[in-house]
Amino acid sequence: MAAPDKAIDHPSPLAQEVGRRRTFAIISHPDAGKTTLTEKLLLFGGAIQLAGTVKARRSSRHATSDWMEVEKQRGISVTSSVMQFEYAGNTINLLDTPGHEDFSEDTYRVLTAVDAAVMVIDAAKGVEAQTLKLLEVCRLRNTPIITFVNKMDREVRAPLALLEEIEAALKIECAPISWPIGMGKTFRGVYQLLQDRLLRFTAGGEKRTDVELIEGLDNPKLDALFPDEVASLRADVALIRDASVPFDPVQFLAGRQSPVFFGSGINNFGVREVLQALVDWAPPPQPRDGSLRLVQPTEEAFSGFVFKIQANMDPKHRDRIAFFRICSGRYTPGMKARHLRSGREMKLGNALTFMANERVSSEGAVAGDIIGIYNHGQLQIGDTLSAGEALAYKGIPYFAPELFRSARPKDPMKSKQLQKGLQELGEEGAIQVFSARQGAQMLLGAVGRLQFEIVAHRLSAEYNVDALYEPVDIFTARWLVFPDEATRKKFEKDELFSLARDVDDNPVFLSANKYNLKLTIERWPTVGFHATREHGQRL
Ligand code: G4P
Repeated sequence: MAAPDKAIDHPSPLAQEVGRRRTFAIISHPDAGKTTLTEKLLLFGGAIQLAGTVKARRSSRHATSDWMEVEKQRGISVTSSVMQFEYAGNTINLLDTPGHEDFSEDTYRVLTAVDAAVMVIDAAKGVEAQTLKLLEVCRLRNTPIITFVNKMDREVRAPLALLEEIEAALKIECAPISWPIGMGKTFRGVYQLLQDRLLRFTAGGEKRTDVELIEGLDNPKLDALFPDEVASLRADVALIRDASVPFDPVQFLAGRQSPVFFGSGINNFGVREVLQALVDWAPPPQPRDGSLRLVQPTEEAFSGFVFKIQANMDPKHRDRIAFFRICSGRYTPGMKARHLRSGREMKLGNALTFMANERVSSEGAVAGDIIGIYNHGQLQIGDTLSAGEALAYKGIPYFAPELFRSARPKDPMKSKQLQKGLQELGEEGAIQVFSARQGAQMLLGAVGRLQFEIVAHRLSAEYNVDALYEPVDIFTARWLVFPDEATRKKFEKDELFSLARDVDDNPVFLSANKYNLKLTIERWPTVGFHATREHGQRL
């Protein structure tokens, strides 16, 4: 590992490339404006030429119980799951997060692969449920967050009240970087507190090269342009300067403070500033916990982990794409890497790089980048690949499901196919699959109801199995850790009817209700009952 001060003095070619990477996701409640912001960011990056390109993806947020819609979505989501583009000499990797809350597990996994996040808040609605959940996930890893308060061109809440709400609900300090002047029909622009100037609002603006900046609060131009509002504009800016905390990069990088920008995504207003903040302030790829040790991104040896699997994109070919975050070193086409779970060597022949609208063969990628690796099921979510060292990247949890169904094939002759299909969909992370210890029942566990519908559809379309899905009397699941063999055996005997195994053969306790769970935990004080487990990990 290179000593940090040496790396600063003489950055290696790899360190230079890694230093240019910014890998982030946008988090928001559906409808707050994530898609719109994504699109404008891509326009700035020259990755797309026309607004509307990303819009096609938006149907995901309307995904109700209509799996057709979701299927359609899936078809195009591979190209849009990761979008790489260049901006101001930096390579930006923007990772998409599914909008629908039923796919929150997917979102959690994506968030493990980023170094920063942009949080979009609808200024009329403030902090919403999904934002709150996602921010909690970011907090698990102290991910730095940039806040974009969107839709200032509408009648919205008072900005100061919004900041107070963000601070109280999300427990993160807000440092306004810009301050809105008016709103809705009288939205005049934002005052950029650090540069001491007004960025004047005009509607529209695809690429917005026509920005008008008015320097200084005392500028007579302000009096001429906004005779009715200039007094309150000055008072507001003075007040916010006084009342707010200054931006502190150290607090930001620690995930304790969020710089806040106001704007209007649809009008491409205030967006460039967010992109610039990502480049200027968001961290380059960070060191990661490889279990054995902390791995620096600038180490020459290649390593990383799978955070998402997309399977059966083409029904004729049973191949999968594993989305892989490089944590250290460099990918070169045709290189070999060790797959730590199986102990085998893998040739990474033809990995993909994801551009905004297409996937292309990667000519090379470095720490911070996401590559897509074709495989036939060897790679699972949470798997680590390395140059040989026995690393195991952490932090991709399975969450205890709260919705359960049993599954059995309509045609009893097809139980093998059902098992195979469920095993594969379970490995892909589409649903969690448990097999009961007593009896041969297959149980499906989900975080959102929509997951069941997709699995039913995919089993039928991709595995040719129609199954019956029935509600079961299960409240939640806990992964079990036993202190010794004797306790395990006794537990398995006494609690047999509540025991199951997950796809990786880990023991799981299925509880019928909250009360039963509480009692069982009390009865077995030395047994660990875990509400999450790491992907790929054998307990
Ligand atoms: P999402 O991905 O977070 O779900 O949100 P999305 O960007 O799709 O935006 C949700 C709605 O909010 C869209 O309207 C979009 O046009 C609108 N919107 C986004 N940014 C702004 C903004 O700055 N100001 C205003 N006034 N509206 C904004 P829609 O009616 O659902 O769709 P559309 O018919 O406009 O496409």
